[in-house]
Amino acid sequence: MRSLSIVVAITGASGAIYGARFVRALAALTTGQSRLIVSPTALRVYNEEYGTKIETPAQYLEAALGDSKGSQSFVLDDFRDVGGKPASGSTPSDGMVIVPCSMKTLAAIAHGYTTNLIERGADVCLKERRRLVVVPRESPYSLIHLRNMTSLTEAGGIVLPASPGFYQRPQNLEDLGDFIAGRILGLFGVPHQLFKAWLTDS
Ligand SMILES: Cc1cc2nc3c(=O)[nH]c(=O)nc-3n(C[C@H](O)[C@H](O)[C@H](O)COP(=O)(O)O)c2cc1C
Repeated sequence: MRSLSIVVAITGASGAIYGARFVRALAALTTGQSRLIVSPTALRVYNEEYGTKIETPAQYLEAALGDSKGSQSFVLDDFRDVGGKPASGSTPSDGMVIVPCSMKTLAAIAHGYTTNLIERGADVCLKERRRLVVVPRESPYSLIHLRNMTSLTEAGGIVLPASPGFYQRPQNLEDLGDFIAGRILGLFGVPHQLFKAWLTDS
């Protein structure tokens, strides 16, 4: 099993299922100790989309993991704590994923204007030349959104849009979430069977 220790951040864009399915897949398919930061708005959007009343990041983690068992563990970091471990380049990490990523968090990262631990953690990733994957969600995009994605890409980040493919014939929402989760894991070199590679048998 691949060892991977990353910072996972969940922000308040629509598409809570993408973050939840990624956390679940990371737990099931990797070993290591990752960190999880959940913004207050991410909790609000999760509740809107799942019809739940989750109030804390710990409850979010429990809900996202479900019955998923694995050897990946998660340390919860406080969104407001700009002095938390991911705020420093001296904390070792294999990179960071923001899924889903709001246009507000994208803008903060693209402009180096960090006011919470998610934005600061992403800023650290870029300056340390570590892998940073953001999964933005908005529709349509304004020119500002597009420019921010360009800036982030130019700075070394990877924009992985919340745009699942349909050629895999998804049967339910979880399949759509797993498509994006698999794409993210692929960028970190994690083998998975969350969807079939194109033109493979059965
Ligand atoms: C139900 C709901 C859905 C939202 N969907 C989006 C979205 O798809 N994309 C986006 O950029 N912002 C969306 N927002 C707005 C963000 O949550 C808002 O900009 C917030 O400040 C983001 O903060 P965060 O990035 O720190 O979580 C949504 C807000 C709510 C309440």
